[in-house]
Amino acid sequence: MENIGQKYTARAHTNIALVKYWGKENEELIIPANSSISLTLDEFYTDTSVIFDSTLQQDMITINSEIVNDEKISKFLDIIRHKSGINLFAKVESINHVPNSAGLASSASAYAALATAGSKAAGLELSDKELSMLARRGSGSATRSIFGGFAAWNKGTDDQTSYGYSIEDPVKMDINMIAIVLNNSPKKISSRLGMKISYETSPFYDSWIKQTNEDFETIQNAITNGDFSTLGQTAELNAMRMHSLTLSANPSYLYLNKDSLLVIEMVKELRDKGIECYYTMDAGPNVKIICQKKNIKAIVDNLSNQFSQDQIKVSGPGEKVKLI
Ligand code: PMV
Repeated sequence: MENIGQKYTARAHTNIALVKYWGKENEELIIPANSSISLTLDEFYTDTSVIFDSTLQQDMITINSEIVNDEKISKFLDIIRHKSGINLFAKVESINHVPNSAGLASSASAYAALATAGSKAAGLELSDKELSMLARRGSGSATRSIFGGFAAWNKGTDDQTSYGYSIEDPVKMDINMIAIVLNNSPKKISSRLGMKISYETSPFYDSWIKQTNEDFETIQNAITNGDFSTLGQTAELNAMRMHSLTLSANPSYLYLNKDSLLVIEMVKELRDKGIECYYTMDAGPNVKIICQKKNIKAIVDNLSNQFSQDQIKVSGPGEKVKLI
């Protein structure tokens, strides 16, 4: 237990799902209903430091230097305390380099960094696979943020069989992502709640599982074959299939807004002009465009007619989690 009382800091990058996770078989353990694939992004990351301290009377957590009282984070620390057998409160300091407004899931990088720094500070020596299983307990998408480049989350059936793994890192494919920030206010329906309503009420949910398993195979093969077009086309279809589960739920809900539709039309027009690019969206209105390096300028120029520079964020593939 020589690490106890020592502060450890980890950096984890966020990721964008190419095959989405949408629905849980087990809410407590966060066992998803389908396997998923993502690209880790270099521009957006979280640095988190953790120290277990015998003088603390409660967990002390700051995010971007502001004190937060987040029961979810303390519950996550309880999992680390339980695994390591230590009985101390922790000081957690987290800085998000995911612009608040980027519309990118900061929970993925946040829980991947917290799992890595927290387990080390508690004296645990976990493999990447074990770290991914731990990060999963905080946020499903964090399972994949332990890994760089193209990563997958194997659905599994219980705590020990639901984990992340690397598909390709470093990434050989020429692939970039442009995020367009359309709205930065907190979402009305969290991904947690949205998934639950879709899972429980959408009559199309079984078809989603069947189709998304096919999309998983297609994207995995596209990565192996360096086939950007198939990857982009399938990621775009998969995103729309996910959003159809929100429309078909009871009550029905929608993450996209009129600007999301505007960007989608823009992407289609660009494609018609021979500029290859694809769109994807998560549990919010912001659209992310998947493209190759040679087309970044043309796409950004086009977006600039409608959106300001600080609404447009470009990123390439990012690295796996590391202690810094
Ligand atoms: O892990 P959560 O609760 O942030 O949910 C992620 C859901 C999506 O971003 C829409 C899809 C995904 O696989 O990341």
